[in-house]
This record gives sequence, C-alpha cells and structure tokens, in this order.
Amino acid sequence: MITPDTISNILSAARIEEVIADFVSLKRRGTNYIGLCPFHNEKTPSFTVSPAKGIYKCFGCGKAGNTVNFLMEHEHYTYPEALRFLAKRYHIEIAEEVQTPEKIQEQNEKETLFLVNQFAQKYFEQILFETEDGKAIGLTYLQERGFRDEYIRKFQLGYSKEGWEDFSSHAVSEGYKPEYLVKTGLSIQREDRLIDRFHGRVMFPIHSASGRILGFGGRILSADKQTAKYLNSPESEIYNKSKSLYGLYFARNAMVAKNNCYLVEGYTDVISLHQAGIENVVASSGTSLTNDQVRLIQRYTPNITILYDGDPAGIKASLRGIDMILEQGMNVKIVLFPEKEDPDSFARTHRSAEVEAFIAKNAVNFILFKTRLLLNETAGDPVKKAGLVKEIVNTIAIIPDGITRNFFINECSSLLGVPEKTLVNEMNKILRKKFSKKLQEEGQGPYIEPEETLTAEPQIIFDFDSCEYLEKEIIRLLLQFGSESITLKQKTGDEPEEEIHLKVADLIIQDLLRDEIPFEEPVCRQIFDEMAELQQKGVIPDKDFFLYHPDPILATLAIDLVILPYEYSHGWEKNQVFLRPEIERLAESILPTLFDFKAKKVERMIDVYSKRLKELNNSKDNKEIEESRQCIMQRMKLDEIRIRIQGKELGRTIVK
Ligand code: CTP
Ligand code: MN
Repeated sequence: MITPDTISNILSAARIEEVIADFVSLKRRGTNYIGLCPFHNEKTPSFTVSPAKGIYKCFGCGKAGNTVNFLMEHEHYTYPEALRFLAKRYHIEIAEEVQTPEKIQEQNEKETLFLVNQFAQKYFEQILFETEDGKAIGLTYLQERGFRDEYIRKFQLGYSKEGWEDFSSHAVSEGYKPEYLVKTGLSIQREDRLIDRFHGRVMFPIHSASGRILGFGGRILSADKQTAKYLNSPESEIYNKSKSLYGLYFARNAMVAKNNCYLVEGYTDVISLHQAGIENVVASSGTSLTNDQVRLIQRYTPNITILYDGDPAGIKASLRGIDMILEQGMNVKIVLFPEKEDPDSFARTHRSAEVEAFIAKNAVNFILFKTRLLLNETAGDPVKKAGLVKEIVNTIAIIPDGITRNFFINECSSLLGVPEKTLVNEMNKILRKKFSKKLQEEGQGPYIEPEETLTAEPQIIFDFDSCEYLEKEIIRLLLQFGSESITLKQKTGDEPEEEIHLKVADLIIQDLLRDEIPFEEPVCRQIFDEMAELQQKGVIPDKDFFLYHPDPILATLAIDLVILPYEYSHGWEKNQVFLRPEIERLAESILPTLFDFKAKKVERMIDVYSKRLKELNNSKDNKEIEESRQCIMQRMKLDEIRIRIQGKELGRTIVK
C-alpha cells in the first residue's frame, strides 16, 4: 500500500498539463490548454485542460477527470499503477505502508511468479520458431490453421516439447527455483522429479490487462479424445481464471475506440478475429462470464456483443448467465453464427469486410433475441406463453436504468402480443419486491409502508429519472460543503425553539435516511451510500475522497459536480457571477434543496396515481374498481408523507 502522504506528494507534484502533454498535443488557450480529445474522434479540439484546477474535460464527449483518472482512462492503469507512473515521472520515492514481512514476501512472490511466466513464454516462443520440433510440429500446426506469423508473434504463442522435463530442467539450469516453477503451475513435483505440466502443446499465454503473463493455455495437437484438448495453468497467486479475460490486453484500446466489446469462447476465436482486423474482442475461455470479468470489460465500455457459434441448446443454457451482465448495467447484443461455424472458422473462411458486415447485420439486442427465441417454442401453448412473459419481464426488471426498462417493455409488448400494461404490472411487482428487500437488507426497513407495498398490487412504475438533477445537486452539496457547520433553529411541538449545530453532511444524510428517500441514479446512490456509511461511523469524507476515488465512475461524477457545473454554463475564464460565494449562501440553499428533492419524489408518485385513477374513472370492472381503491389508498398515504415533509421543513430555519 502506498501511504496517504506519498499519494498527496505525488498529486501535488504532478502537473496535469505536463502529464497529458505526454499523450496529447496541447495548445495554450488563455489559462487553459486545449487539444484533440484522445477519447473520441474529433476534428476541432474540445478537450480542455485546466492547470489551475488540475483537471481535464472534453466538451465533446464529456470525459473529465484529474491526472490520475486520465492515466487510468488513457493508459488503462489501475489506481496504484497510475500513482506509480506519476511517482516515477516526478522522481518521488514511494513510501509503502509499513508492511508486514508476510506482505512483502507475498508481493515479492507475485513478482517472482510473473518473472517465471515471462521466462517460460520466451522459452516456448523460441522453441516454436527456432527448433526443428517446434517448427515441424507447432508452427506447422498453427500455420495450417491459418495463423500468420505476425499474429503468432503478437499473441506470443509458443510450443512446449514432447517429453517430461524439457522445460523444467532448462528453467532450473537457468537458476529458477523449483518452488516457483511449481507455484506457477508450469512444473509439477513428482517425488524428487520436476516434470512439465505442458508437453507437446501449442502454448497460448494469458495476459493481464497491463500485459503481464498470468498463466497459459496449452492445446494438444492430435485429435486424441483421451486427453483434454486444452490444458490450462492452475489457479495461482497471480492467475485467477474468473478474474481474467483472454485477449483483454490486446483489445482494450479498440474496446474504447469502438465503444464495444466482442465476447467469444476461445483463444483461437480471438486471434482469428484480430487477423480479420477486429481487435475489440476477448474470450471467456469456454465458461460463462463472471461478475469480475464483466467489471473488467466495463472499465472500457458499457457495450458487449456476444458472438455465439450456432448451437441452440448451448445458447439456451447460457441465457441465465447473460442476465447477470444486464444487472451490471451493460447493453448486451447477440450475434449467432451459422451452424457448425465459430468466429474462428468464420473469420478464416471469409474476407475481413464480410466478417464485419456479418456481425453488423446479425447483432440483435439480447432481450429481443431471447424473446424471439423463447417465443418460437411456445407456439400456441398459453401456459408456456405465460411462463415466457414472466421470464422476459424478470430479465427486463434486472436492467438498472428505468428508461431502458421502459423501452424494452414497449418493444416486447408488441413482440409478445401482450398489452404493455400487463407487462408493466408484472414488472412493478418484481421491482417493488426487490426494492423492499434491498432496503430491508440494508436495515432501513421497507419503502413507505410494508403491508401496503406488498398487498396492494402495484400497478404503476415510477419514473424517478426526472429527479436526477436534484439528486446530483444534493450530492454536490454533500461533496462540496459536507464538513461545513451550520446552525439550525428547530421547533418541536410546544417546546421553545432550540438551536442545533450540525455539519452539513450530518444534516442531509440523517434527513434523507430518516425519511427513507432513496437515490435512484446509480452513481449518486453509490456516493450517497458510501458517505452515509462513513457518516454513521462519525467520519465525514472531504471532497478529495471522491475526487480521487479509485472507482473512476464515482470520481468522474464528483468532478463533474464539484468543479465543473458553473464553469460549463458561465465559461471557464469568467468570474463567478454570484456576488457572494456559495459557502456564505449555504443557509439559503440546503434546506430548500432537500425539501424540493423529497417533495418532488412524493409529488411524482402522487401524480402517477392520479393519472391512473383518471383512467379507471367510471369503470364497472370489479378488478379495476379494486385497483382504483388501492390507488386512492396509496395516494392518501403519500399525502400524509407530503404533509409530514412540509411540516418538518417549516419547523426549521437555518440561522447561519
Ligand atoms: N477450453 C478449455 N479446456 C478444454 C476445452 C476448452 O479450457 N478442455 C477453453 C479454451 O479456452 C478454449 C475454449 O474453452 O479456447 C473454447 O473451447 P473450444 O471451442 O472447444 O475450443 P476452440 O477455442 O475452438 O479451439 P480449437 O479451435 O483449437 O478447437
Ligand atoms: Mn475452434
């Protein structure tokens, strides 16, 4: 761990315009610098760097951040990697947290394992290209499969010789300790002999996102059914299968540039697509994607396109796994390859342009794909169809974003031939349950009132999205002024007015937790949750905590909210238009904003019920009459909450 002191030394030494100028050509423009944005294609520069504020922002694509974010985004460094890069550039010695000998040992050991793998990769590559066996067996095999030397080199493929100890004994003779050869899984200890795990196999190194070798996959050359076609490195201190993706290192720049990631099954699919000029491709190595792998992809793009070889049974089996990808807020598309083809064979037998065209033409949104696939099987069977509707709505309900959900409800309604209202009702049941469950798990108790939430058939979906600007404003106040003190006058009942001194963060967080007002916008919610958690422990994080948050998504929002909003509307160079700085106007802004925020949410829910009541007005249908009754009850409940909120606000004034 780098110590906080070192981090702050690094951050104060680093000059954003210098660091960025290493990667982007910048021109001076007043007190700022501008250049062509490295994150999207543009002809006129809208990428702005402000040395005074230590931030960059592209007014074309919206990317923004500080020096560290820039390196994470542009160079795909992790947070500590970015810090180390800066430390090196500015000659700052890195003080590590006083580490236990075990920790140091662990760190050194990992480094050693990487070195062993690097050595092995070089060795296998040299065997492939420079020995008789390698050329005659390994290289011939790869070339016959259509892999070109340039790509064999690029992916650092190699060959491990037949026999039992060729690699192991060479490694030992070069001074590598058996202990580490065993820990990487390259060698296996058999009594007092050290034998090779991989022999007679073509070697595919598996790289980390930054290009270090985590492990290997080795493919047997014969069609021998007795032996597993692929043998992979075992899990080790550096290789965790479920946290790595084959090809990521070679794909990351293209993933950002294309804002999409193709997912294939195997090593050979990745390499063949590269040969066809498609570089934004990674492989899950034959298993379904894990959460960690989705998060890896998400660092570069929110869009994923799964390339399936055409086997309907296999596809059906993997549908569930894809829900998990949706849950993370990713957009998922599916491309189905013709029967008996995988991306590898297809790319080998078609021209590059044809491969691109095929993918573009056949990419279907996952939800629509799933709906059509399952619909085919329900033909004419109403029971099956009801099951299908539930299944599809379940999937839609997983999508975190409300607008996207509504879009799919609409689309699937026409695909399924089921009224939108039916789907909405079904989805609301799921959403309510989830929401209540989540709040309960978090120990906040269910939303509004449990018995009503659960008994009243919820008919309506609330569109909270229009509260987003208020949510952001609240987060901004928290970030910017959280640790400022204010004084409130509060009157409860007949008691005399009392003065309370509070930190802004304590006031806002307590207030929102007490009224159980949830944040909907996911990043706002994450920031709020993290703050609330710290606040409950008596800590108020300063804004740097979020500005330099290791999660770039949180950091970007924090930067957008704290540093940029006024600049954007009033121009970077202009003075603040307010006569008094905001900090002196806190008293006038916090309670009204809080009030607006809460009132707006309740108001919107009331509106939705009123609208529905209007639709149901004069209905003779018993079910609809019951629904009306429920709507009225819900609305009365909300009215009470509204009055409570207003009353609370009126009983309080900020004096300073
Ligand atoms: N795989 C594995 N172990 C196996 C079989 C497969 O780890 N015994 C993984 C490999 O990562 C492989 C992927 O699953 O790349 C996909 O398997 P498959 O489609 O069978 O292999 P291909 O990649 O198509 O390889 P090839 O074209 O060489 O047969
Ligand atoms: Mn294959």
